[in-house]
Amino acid sequence: MNLTAGVLATVLSAAAALGQSVYPSGAVAADHVVASRAGARMLREGGNAVDAAVAASFALSVTRPYSCGIGGGGFMVVHLVDDPRHPGSGPVRAAFNYRETAPAWVGPDTFVAHPDPIAPARGGKSVCVPGTVAGLLAAHERFGLLSRGAVLAPAIEAAEAGFAVDDHYMTSVREDVLPFFERHADARERFAFVWSRFLREGRVEKGDLVRLPEQGGALRLIARDGAAAFYAGPVGDAIVRAANADGARLTMDDLSRFAAVRAEPIASHYRGLTVLGMPPPSSGGVAVAQALEMLERRPELLTAAHNSAAYAHMVGEALKHAFADRARWMGDPAFVEVPVAALLDEGYMDALAARFDGARTLASEAYGSSPAGEDAPEDSGTAHVSAVDRWGNAVACTETVNLIFGSFVTAEPFGFVLNDTMDDFTARPGAPNEFGLVQSRRNAIEPGKRALSSMSPTIVLDGEGRVRVVAGAAGGPRIISSTLQATLNVLRFDMPAGQALSAPRFHHQWKPDVLWLERALGDSPLAEGLRALGHDVRPRGPIGNVQIIRRAEDGWDAAADPRKGGLPDGH
Ligand code: GLY
Repeated sequence: MNLTAGVLATVLSAAAALGQSVYPSGAVAADHVVASRAGARMLREGGNAVDAAVAASFALSVTRPYSCGIGGGGFMVVHLVDDPRHPGSGPVRAAFNYRETAPAWVGPDTFVAHPDPIAPARGGKSVCVPGTVAGLLAAHERFGLLSRGAVLAPAIEAAEAGFAVDDHYMTSVREDVLPFFERHADARERFAFVWSRFLREGRVEKGDLVRLPEQGGALRLIARDGAAAFYAGPVGDAIVRAANADGARLTMDDLSRFAAVRAEPIASHYRGLTVLGMPPPSSGGVAVAQALEMLERRPELLTAAHNSAAYAHMVGEALKHAFADRARWMGDPAFVEVPVAALLDEGYMDALAARFDGARTLASEAYGSSPAGEDAPEDSGTAHVSAVDRWGNAVACTETVNLIFGSFVTAEPFGFVLNDTMDDFTARPGAPNEFGLVQSRRNAIEPGKRALSSMSPTIVLDGEGRVRVVAGAAGGPRIISSTLQATLNVLRFDMPAGQALSAPRFHHQWKPDVLWLERALGDSPLAEGLRALGHDVRPRGPIGNVQIIRRAEDGWDAAADPRKGGLPDGH
């Protein structure tokens, strides 16, 4: 087809409006366009997918300060066609675990009878040792092509120039944060930086410019001195002081002990494809793998129409099994044995798939035995970056400060939010956490341990080992269900990336025994069909925010989830 410049511009702007574009030589899809642009800039400057993902992540830490950041942690899955440090040695796979660690002052019983019910979720006591800086720099040092200064430059620029408050920021603030500040009389003083800078004393509006020059200062120190500036230098000192001023007992030893851990990604199979995911303490890698393995064994998957009752029932059953196993078996493998091989064993997958009943869902007791949890908040912190480059390398990384604006505590004078990842542990056995997740003793709090997570950075390879899909999401436990559905939308229904993300989604997390439908599906025949299959169906707001890249005939088809308002960029 011979497109005139005008027609091409129209086509591209229509694609961009859908949050979707095809790029011949590499692409980045992140939760904020400034972050996607930061990654694409690395690709243009000769960097690879690792440089792009690291630059995009640092930029996201500025432009989505309530989702992720240098005060949080994350996971990264990497597939490289060759090792940049050892050219010619062939493909490399890596999983970087930079999930936050529990400090030495906490233990399994710290919050069991704590008088403040929100202590594990908000305030200084909820802060774990941040991992993002160590993780991003470890991946960059091992696999990146550009300098540390280059990958940090866009984030520093964004922090100093500022970014405009958008719809997602406003929704998060209105639905989640301002109600908290209204309920807690002391919050304005206690979390003064969040209140004044991010909420503008409750008057923040769409379009307001948020500048974070203090965070720019921290990023400049990291660019100059590396991780030492953060874990042993002035930034670390600020973290300890800020958390302890709000009740914690963090030490510089806690920080200096932190190290990113490199592991092998989980490799599972779906219809001749290889699915790379994050091993524990992410539950996402195992859960997505289990769900795909079970669904591969159900021939109805190939005939069920997209988002029909039969389809949602089948995917829902797979999610129920996966979340039941998550609750029973998962924790930090450095502390407890997590039977990953047994959970993905062919015979076990056969047995679980055989338990599906196409005519009805089973009571949750058939999947597990913990008490039911409550509904979870509308959305969480957390953000995802998918990146690919001209060589066919791919990176999927998901990072979080946990809940919106994490603990609400900020590290002064650097003005970045500290995580509240303590709530992702089993802080009170038998009781659901802020996401309504009931978890086992395996995920109990222990010094140095990393909390179980749902973050699911995922890379799918075709039969020849070439990247087919890169995906991942934000959204607490809905990360797993949204990553799974967006990936299936591409693999099973052959949807372009933009359509794969805009399609409405559903979610089941085993406990509570509820199948949630996004409101677009709420009153549809789908809801009726699912009720007839025995599901307790309820409507809710957005289910996850996915960033996805798919190999297309003419390049990389990238899309950012319209639910969060990001845009992809590329080269
Ligand atoms: N903080 C959400 C998760 O890691 O699952």
